Amino acid sequence: MQTRAIPSSNESLPIVGLGTYRGFDVEPSQPAYKDLPAVLDALFEKGGKLIDSSPMYGRAEQTTGELLSIHEPRSPAFLATKVWTRGREEGIAQMEQSFALLQTDRIDLMQIHNLLDWRTHLPTLRHWKEAGRIRYIGITHYTASAYEEVEAVLKAEPVDFLQINYALDDRGVEKRLLPLCRERGVAVICNRPFGGGDLLAKLKDKPLPGWAAQVGVKSWPQLALKYLLSHSAVTCVIPGTGNPRYMAENVRAGFGPMLTDAQRQQLIALVG
Ligand SMILES: NC(=O)c1ccc[n+]([C@@H]2O[C@H](COP(=O)([O-])OP(=O)(O)OC[C@H]3O[C@@H](n4cnc5c(N)ncnc54)[C@H](OP(=O)(O)O)[C@@H]3O)[C@@H](O)[C@H]2O)c1
Repeated sequence: MQTRAIPSSNESLPIVGLGTYRGFDVEPSQPAYKDLPAVLDALFEKGGKLIDSSPMYGRAEQTTGELLSIHEPRSPAFLATKVWTRGREEGIAQMEQSFALLQTDRIDLMQIHNLLDWRTHLPTLRHWKEAGRIRYIGITHYTASAYEEVEAVLKAEPVDFLQINYALDDRGVEKRLLPLCRERGVAVICNRPFGGGDLLAKLKDKPLPGWAAQVGVKSWPQLALKYLLSHSAVTCVIPGTGNPRYMAENVRAGFGPMLTDAQRQQLIALVG
């Protein structure tokens, strides 16, 4: 799989990761749980690393931790999770719990979920980064109404990552946030790359463009991810799934040529 440099460190990160919202919010007693090891296999076998979770996602952190702890060979995961609460002590307690649930003593990326109480959490994150408990600091959001605040934080505070909604039919970040991240050396993770699934429903009856095979693409999910990955400010996409077949399909977007500007414009014309 192709990799891109995290601007603040130059470390290489594989460009397709996994989102755990819903797909990993599963109890061991549920039938879907037994599919999840194969989701991780599909990610890792093709060189993927980034797994994104949050205390907001029900049991997802715990399920991720359980499955990684028994994964053979030892998992190469780049673990990203979030703090999603108000208050300094509450934030610390929640992040400590994430370490326990994920069964790890180091979290690669700790993000402030939806910027909730970010002024309070940022000093803790900086301190933990210095102490080596986390390696990178990030902020996240999922909606255009927050872009102004996201922009203000990016301009005022050095952070390593922005995680933000970006999809073929949800391109608002292209205007200001992606250029700003490029300018300030902030890595970009695209969340909701399929609009939670709505984008794929919109595309499913449309024929793929004639040039899809030339860019190594056999399906709409792959092409929708490649649209995002073809933006030079994007570091990684994290499609959410608990389905091994979907994961195997999605990782293929990390291979082969990216799209030209003309190809990207054709896709935009298709979704409006
Ligand atoms: N504020 C934030 O920080 C924030 C907000 C939103 C999301 N996120 C993160 O971003 C990740 C991605 O967003 P998301 O999960 O909300 O939405 P998404 O990735 O846009 O869409 C997920 C949906 O797409 C389906 N899907 C995935 N791969 C597919 C494929 N190859 N073919 C057909 N369907 C496919 C999934 O189905 P199945 O469920 O059946 O697999 C699921 O219904 C989340 O999991 C989470 O980690 C963060």
